[in-house]
Amino acid sequence: MTPEQLKFDREHIWHPYTSMTNPTPCLPVASTSGVTITLTTGEVLIDGMSSWWSAIHGYANKQINDAAHAQIDNMSHVMFGGLTHEPAIELAKNLVSITPEPLDKVFLADSGSVAVEVAIKMALQYWQAKGLQQKHKLVSLLNGYHGDTFGAMAVCDPLNGMHDIFSDILPKHFFADSPKITFDQPWNPQDIQPLAEILACEHDNIAALILEPIVQGAGGMRIYHPEYLSQARALCNKYNVLLIADEIATGFGRTGKMFACEHANISPDIMCVGKALTGGYMTLAATLTSKEVADTISNGGAKCFMHGPTFMGNPLACAVANASINILKTGKWQQQISQIEQGLKQGLTPAKALSKVKDVRVIGAIGVIELHEAVDSVRIQRQFVEQKIWVRPFGKLVYIMPAYVIDPKSLEKLTSAIVQVVASH
Ligand SMILES: Cc1ncc(COP(=O)(O)O)c(C=O)c1O
Repeated sequence: MTPEQLKFDREHIWHPYTSMTNPTPCLPVASTSGVTITLTTGEVLIDGMSSWWSAIHGYANKQINDAAHAQIDNMSHVMFGGLTHEPAIELAKNLVSITPEPLDKVFLADSGSVAVEVAIKMALQYWQAKGLQQKHKLVSLLNGYHGDTFGAMAVCDPLNGMHDIFSDILPKHFFADSPKITFDQPWNPQDIQPLAEILACEHDNIAALILEPIVQGAGGMRIYHPEYLSQARALCNKYNVLLIADEIATGFGRTGKMFACEHANISPDIMCVGKALTGGYMTLAATLTSKEVADTISNGGAKCFMHGPTFMGNPLACAVANASINILKTGKWQQQISQIEQGLKQGLTPAKALSKVKDVRVIGAIGVIELHEAVDSVRIQRQFVEQKIWVRPFGKLVYIMPAYVIDPKSLEKLTSAIVQVVASH
């Protein structure tokens, strides 16, 4: 990459959450393969991020590459209105077969945030169709994160959800205090009280509860007790409120179960998936719901579900997603995740001894070091790259979620370099 190209990038291209006048530095990538990112300088970095939870089988996976090539030669895209195709049908079959019952109606969306918009719209249309228009608020959890579009922003944590500057113009929803009891602690019924109180008082106005099951991701990388999820499900049943599980980060094996809802053996009424759906190859997401919800919407005033993006059901993305799910269907991921979990526990636990570290937590293939103070993100990034690893912390959180195919040696290199950098930062 030439210095001119990099200059153009700095001056003309927005990267996620960056400034145009004072952009944070970006490293030029030449290629990716397996669990590594090769920079144009020739440096090879072990990737700890899986491109934000998505590249679960590593980069340039042969099976997925082959599926993409075969599909692109046949049909890259065709509109989904009035037309259908095998890749979408196969993907819907795959999703219905691996998600909890009774989720069996599939809406294919463009990205995680759009899948959340679709889920919210489904919940609103459901109650409208039942003649209960006043049920149009949502309840969400503090420390939650659900995306960057307007409907999604309105259910993110109002303060740390990165969208507080829009708070005056976003629709107002209810927020329950976030779960405090961690995954391994003894359950305490007090934990669910804040949510129970909101639902008891406001259920007549509430269409749905939206939450990230078991792991609250971008809002704090917090891992909570499965009993919270079970009780939340029971409360939704009691108060006639739909449950939306946002599995966009947690889905497809990441927490050690195919979907994090399985830790509590519950089924949501609506589920959003994205990120790892295509094994990190391209953007695609889905919102699933039950026959009951779908039929009610379809028999309502509008007689249909009011959403339909241009690239809905993109065949290329569906074919790639099918290839990724077919790899998961071999079941190998379970052993991979449990080995990664062990490696993360072993490798990151030494950080607990550092006075600057508040907590170290691991579930499945997710490892988190929480510090007392926010890191200097530019400096720590440089330190990681010097150690030949790719880790991108935010705030007080240094966290990784490597590809399931990472080998023990690379994982050990990743964790030991992280502990070393955190210690010296
Ligand atoms: C739980 C959750 N929901 C929704 C989203 C939004 O997904 P996308 O970035 O694909 O729009 C994210 C992204 O980080 C997420 O972690």
